[in-house]
Amino acid sequence: MERLQKFLAHAGVASRRSCEELILQGRVKVNGKVITALGTKIDPQKDIVEIDGKRVKKEEKKVYVLLNKPAGYVTTSKDPQGRPTVLDLIKDINERIYPVGRLDYETEGLLLLTNDGELSFRLTHPKYKVEKVYQALVKGIPDESDLEKLRKGIRLEDGITHPAKVKILQKGSNSTLLELIIHEGRNRQVRRMCEAINHPVLSLKRIKIGFLSLGSLPKGKFRPLTPEEVKLLKMRVGLV
Ligand code: URA
Repeated sequence: MERLQKFLAHAGVASRRSCEELILQGRVKVNGKVITALGTKIDPQKDIVEIDGKRVKKEEKKVYVLLNKPAGYVTTSKDPQGRPTVLDLIKDINERIYPVGRLDYETEGLLLLTNDGELSFRLTHPKYKVEKVYQALVKGIPDESDLEKLRKGIRLEDGITHPAKVKILQKGSNSTLLELIIHEGRNRQVRRMCEAINHPVLSLKRIKIGFLSLGSLPKGKFRPLTPEEVKLLKMRVGLV
């Protein structure tokens, strides 16, 4: 027996959290009956699971893609405003993959996409402490006490951030390039952190997730992860 949301995530439907939302929204049926209780266990061998009336099959080939996202793309599969989505940049992949976490419309850089719901869940959950490295060009020149606030954790409207690693990479006349390393993935987190020290972000790029970096991958291009990279990522979050 397996918990329904885990079964859905393993089947590559979405991340475990998004699967929980699908259940709560009443979009999931087991053996013809709508299930909204998150604790529900199912027998993946016998039970028939449907989302929006479409059967969910147990296993799908797992696909892992690393994209260098340009600014001007949304990180969702559909945008109500009709803006381009990161999936428009992924060609020749037959499986339904979706982004691991989110980058803002204006943010560039490393984005993973996969249909491996469990890996996606773990890479984004703060519990697994997978570091995300950002380069933020901010307005003005933050001083040491500003940076210390980010290092200690800063109060945002949704709570205090976990301590960040922060250093100055380059100072301009009225802007500064910072490197920030965080392992949370709250909405617009880096932008809000920098705003909170009165040095708003002018541009933002993610250059690493864990050991994976953009390397020389051109903007707008993607590549599959190597089997070795997939194995190392899984090991990092306790999946092998
Ligand atoms: N933090 C942000 O503010 N934006 C992103 O896109 C990623 C992290």
